[in-house]
Amino acid sequence: MSAPPDAAATPRGRMRRESFRMRLADVLRGRRLVVVSNREPIVHRWRAGRIETLTPASGLTTAVLPLVTACHGTWVAHGAGDADFELTDARDGLDVFPDPGRHRRYRLRRVRLEREIEDGYYYGYANEGLWPLCHAAYTAPIFRRSDWDEYVKANERFAVAVLDEIGADDALVLVQDYHLALVPRMLRRARPDLLIAQFWHVPWPSRETMRVCPQLPELLDGLLGNDLLGLHTRHHVDNFLETIDRGIEGLVETERRTAQRQGHRTFVRAFPISIDVDEVASLAQERTLEEAYPELAPRLRGRTMLLGVDRLDYTKGIPHRLRMMEILLERHPELRGRLTFVQVGAPTRSVLPRYRALADEVGTLVAELNERFGTQDWRPIEYLSEHQDRSDVAVLMRHADACLVTSLHDGMNLVAKEYVASRAPEAGTLVLSKFTGAARELPEACLINPYDIDGSAELLLESLRLDESARRESMAQMLRHLYRNDIYHWALELLVSVDEVDRERRARMFPGN
Ligand code: G6P
Repeated sequence: MSAPPDAAATPRGRMRRESFRMRLADVLRGRRLVVVSNREPIVHRWRAGRIETLTPASGLTTAVLPLVTACHGTWVAHGAGDADFELTDARDGLDVFPDPGRHRRYRLRRVRLEREIEDGYYYGYANEGLWPLCHAAYTAPIFRRSDWDEYVKANERFAVAVLDEIGADDALVLVQDYHLALVPRMLRRARPDLLIAQFWHVPWPSRETMRVCPQLPELLDGLLGNDLLGLHTRHHVDNFLETIDRGIEGLVETERRTAQRQGHRTFVRAFPISIDVDEVASLAQERTLEEAYPELAPRLRGRTMLLGVDRLDYTKGIPHRLRMMEILLERHPELRGRLTFVQVGAPTRSVLPRYRALADEVGTLVAELNERFGTQDWRPIEYLSEHQDRSDVAVLMRHADACLVTSLHDGMNLVAKEYVASRAPEAGTLVLSKFTGAARELPEACLINPYDIDGSAELLLESLRLDESARRESMAQMLRHLYRNDIYHWALELLVSVDEVDRERRARMFPGN
């Protein structure tokens, strides 16, 4: 099947995608590409008697989509929507045509998980255990033995679905994230010949932090089933190798950044994840603010607009950011009426008490600030607590004079990168927590410590007051960095490393060939 015309992209974006497809074909050398993640790229659900398609707010799925669509790949993920299995074939899969202008068809294979498994595996072990553990943001992780049992069962379900999709074919399997730490070992046992790589989208903290986890040896054993493990930063790579060195029987070669267990070698490397810069930039230009937000737009006109875009997660430092606004409005009365902070807070994991408590806290803070400082024709905080489409968010970003990314700890944070791509070449201010992976790549941003609320508020004000050309220039520098290090660069670096690992493995298995 020939690819549909790439109508929506700029020539530069089209070339980038085309050359990526060609390189990908070189690396795959006839192998199939299978991505496996918990979160699915699209959800089908019933609304008013009709099936609706929803794109979840997930940095992970946005990042992986260009990769899987570039080669008509297969994506194995949890079928979480209540209408998900209405549209699937006998093997629980369907062909998806994401966006005829930009992306090619791929196959989505949905994994069925009963409510009990989902509760224990996803809400329990993954999100009450591993998520706070890896983010070390002062929310104590909870590890229940019963959740672990469901985590194991769910990982088995994903592994079985991957094996069923592959059949007897040769494949490269790319496993995503902390939900699926056991899948690589399970696949390796069943099919030692497969090429298996995993990307860990959250931080890997120090061994001291990780040893709190009662099942750490089992998780490490699972991860060492990979040929290649990717993390966001070199610091996470070092932490991982140190955890192996002292946490499980395995031989670590620090210089080569590899770990060996049961005769199998896993390479561990840093690949800072990124975005499709051209796609985000063109999304931001598609509509005006008035078209996307007819009610909000007039309230923002003539005012300085600050923006925050997050899933409502306690790692994102949203209350800290609201306190920053409070300090600014308290200490600088001249800002009242002249500045509006728009916060997008997409609901997430709301089944969990910690997330509901955060939603309440944020809702209360917003109401308090609006009550205290608001006037008849001005609200200091505009809170959009519903899910927003990516294209709407891009329009907001394009209009925002500043974007606030105040995570207490974050593997990368793609919002920071999306803001630069949407806003440049206009002057803008990216306020960026030092505790994000993105801060290592974007030193031109206004780097803050979100725990220092007073200091951060002052830094924000200072950078807003910088002259226009300085703010324009720092955006331009960050944009140049992103064009060189976009999502295609990330995917290629990862795939080229997989290929090198494969060549080395073959050379060991068939010396002299
Ligand atoms: C973000 C994180 C990922 C995580 C995803 C999950 O993208 O960086 O590590 O997998 O959120 O969110 P979810 O809504 O699927 O729990």
